[in-house]
Amino acid sequence: MEHSSRYIVVFALLVCGVCSIFVAVSAVSLKPRQERNKAIDIQSKVLSLAGLLEDGMSADAISETFTSRIEPRIIDFETGAYAEGIDAIAFDQRAAAADPDTSKSAPPNDAQVRRVPDNAVVYHVMGEGGELEGLILPIHGKGLWSTLYGFIALGTDANSIRGITFYEHGETPGLGGEVDNPRWKSLWEGRKAFDERGQVAIRVKKGAAGPPEEDPYQVDGLSGATITARGVTATLAFWLGDDGFGSYLDQFRAERGI
Ligand SMILES: Cc1cc2nc3c(=O)[nH]c(=O)nc-3n(C[C@H](O)[C@H](O)[C@H](O)COP(=O)(O)O)c2cc1C
Repeated sequence: MEHSSRYIVVFALLVCGVCSIFVAVSAVSLKPRQERNKAIDIQSKVLSLAGLLEDGMSADAISETFTSRIEPRIIDFETGAYAEGIDAIAFDQRAAAADPDTSKSAPPNDAQVRRVPDNAVVYHVMGEGGELEGLILPIHGKGLWSTLYGFIALGTDANSIRGITFYEHGETPGLGGEVDNPRWKSLWEGRKAFDERGQVAIRVKKGAAGPPEEDPYQVDGLSGATITARGVTATLAFWLGDDGFGSYLDQFRAERGI
C-alpha cells in the first residue's frame, strides 16, 4: 500500500507530537520525585558522615533521622555569624552560589571555586540528648573532569576529621571515582584538618600515608588519579581556609572556648 508524502509527513508529525507530550508530562510529573530523591540522597550522605545511617534505611527513616539529629544552620558566609530569617531546610546553597544576587566572585583558588554564596549552610550533628556532637560542612571543587560536591565532617574541636564523602562528581570510575571507595574514605577518620598554627594542613599525598597518630595531616593518594586527589586537597584548603568557612570556624571555636 502506497501513502502520499503528505500522509507520511502528517503521520510523522503526529507521532512526534504524541511522544513529546508523553516526555513533557513524564518530565514534569516526575520532577518532584526526582527532587525528593536528590534531597534524600544528600541527607543520607550527611547521616553516613554523622554515623547515623543504618543499612536498608527507608527514605522516610532517613528523613526522620535527619530531622531529629541534624540541625542545618544558616550562616553569613563572610562574617561566619549565624543568620536569621532564612529557612535552613529549604536553603539551596548551590543555587545561591550560582545567582549573582546572592553570591560573590571567589578569589582565585586551586579548587577552581568561582563564586561563594552570601549565606551558607552548616550542619550540626546533635546527640540523642541534644548536645552537639560534630559539624558537617559542604565542600566542592574541581577534579580532573568534573566538580566534586561533598561534605567534610569535623569533631566538636573543629579540627579532628570524622569523614569525607562526595555525593556528586563525574570522575572516572576506578580512577578519580575511587573517592567513593569506602576503604579510601575510612582513611580520613582521626586525621587533623589544621596544624598547630591553625593553618589548613590536611592533604591527599601521592602514595601511602601513615596511620593518623603518626601522619595526621596526610591521606593516601588515589593511584592513577593524582589530578582528582589534588582537587580534593585544594577543595579542603579552600573551604576550611579564610576564603571558605574560616570565619565560621573561628567563631565556633571562640564560642566553645577552644
Ligand atoms: C580515560 C582516562 C580517564 C582518566 N580519569 C582520571 C580521573 O578521573 N582522575 C585523575 O586524576 N586522573 C585520571 N586519568 C589520568 C590522568 O590523565 C593522569 O595521568 C593521572 O591523574 C596521573 O596520576 P598518577 O600520577 O597517580 O598516575 C585518566 C586518564 C585516562 C586516559
